[in-house]
Amino acid sequence: MSIQPALQHIPADLVCVADYERYARQHLPHPVFEYICGGGADEISLRRNRATFDQISIVPRVLRDCTQGGTQTHLLGEAFRHPILLAPVAFQKLAHPQGELASARAASLLEAGMVVSTLASETLENIAAATQAPRWFQLYFQENRDFTVSLVRRAEAAGYTRLVVTVDAPLQGIRNRAQRAGFTLPEHVSAINLSDRPPLPYREFTTDQSIVLQGMMSEAPTWGDIAWLQTQTALPIILKGVLHAEDARLAQSMGIAGIIVSNHGGRVLDSVPSALQMLPAIRRSVGNDYPLLLDGGIQRGTDVFKALALGANAVLVGRPQLYALAVAGALGVAHMLRLLREELEVTMALAGTPTLEDITDQAICKEGGMPISSLA
Ligand SMILES: Cc1cc2nc3c(=O)[nH]c(=O)nc-3n(C[C@H](O)[C@H](O)[C@H](O)COP(=O)(O)O)c2cc1C
Repeated sequence: MSIQPALQHIPADLVCVADYERYARQHLPHPVFEYICGGGADEISLRRNRATFDQISIVPRVLRDCTQGGTQTHLLGEAFRHPILLAPVAFQKLAHPQGELASARAASLLEAGMVVSTLASETLENIAAATQAPRWFQLYFQENRDFTVSLVRRAEAAGYTRLVVTVDAPLQGIRNRAQRAGFTLPEHVSAINLSDRPPLPYREFTTDQSIVLQGMMSEAPTWGDIAWLQTQTALPIILKGVLHAEDARLAQSMGIAGIIVSNHGGRVLDSVPSALQMLPAIRRSVGNDYPLLLDGGIQRGTDVFKALALGANAVLVGRPQLYALAVAGALGVAHMLRLLREELEVTMALAGTPTLEDITDQAICKEGGMPISSLA
């Protein structure tokens, strides 16, 4: 059940993000691979994440001068080398002994923003110290609100510049693939930032109560808790896991700084739409200037391009990070990010859109040439 040692070099036939998945399958113990690659229940949403990208075509413009172009961008007031960030991904020591530290070094090298999970397997302070690139802290609300605030204080002190509050997973989805594979966390991997978490209070349920609704959901955050969190920190707050245009509008009206449109990589509620499907409607509801990021299914520079064309300001990658870590540690993650950036540059050059601002819905169409407005 042990991880195969990471490679010291990138094999010649590892040339795109999907190749990392192929290699990672050989490097990771089967249950760990299944836990990472899997989605919720029947994985309808997981498949949809890819299918939506594939339904969109890029319609190139020719003979344009692209020599002044670039992928630089500003997001929520910070400068980024490119619009591709590392998504918050828990327990990275499952994939590599250095876990999140290796990802942070790669992010630093490639000047990629990194979102660090509450469920990281390394301390949030050590991770922050390992990257010079922008770093954001992903917060899962904890039952104990004092403990939640203590995490925020640690993130502030460690130099995280934004809080990403994940709102689509107040409880774990139904993960049949991981269950079938018998996945459990190995002893050497834990949510180390939660080690001081006060024990959960003991609760008894009557027979007419639901362990899910009256139990697990009783301490789940609500809009009121988001408003409370805004009073506890000066860090701008981003909500991750929004799919409904009304929720996006509500967040915007509360002063939330931005949104990550996401279905959590298809890992929580199955049968939800892909983030890309909902992006145009969300963009319409919040207007052109509101920061929107997107994740779920990004594997190619062309995918990044399509997300930007449909209204995202940037994208994040989840699973590819762990696959690259498993195969070649920090080198792998840096290489994976570089592949994505270079593919994005190639796409921009060939589509005749030299800057990110040039990438609009005029550059894409739906399968069969249908106008893109019919996507949502
Ligand atoms: C193994 C794994 C662990 C994850 N852990 C977290 C987490 O701790 N917090 C969070 O907000 N999202 C988590 N996610 C979701 C990712 O942030 C992201 O939304 C998703 O992976 C994007 O889809 P992709 O994997 O197709 O890129 C996790 C995803 C995976 C695959």
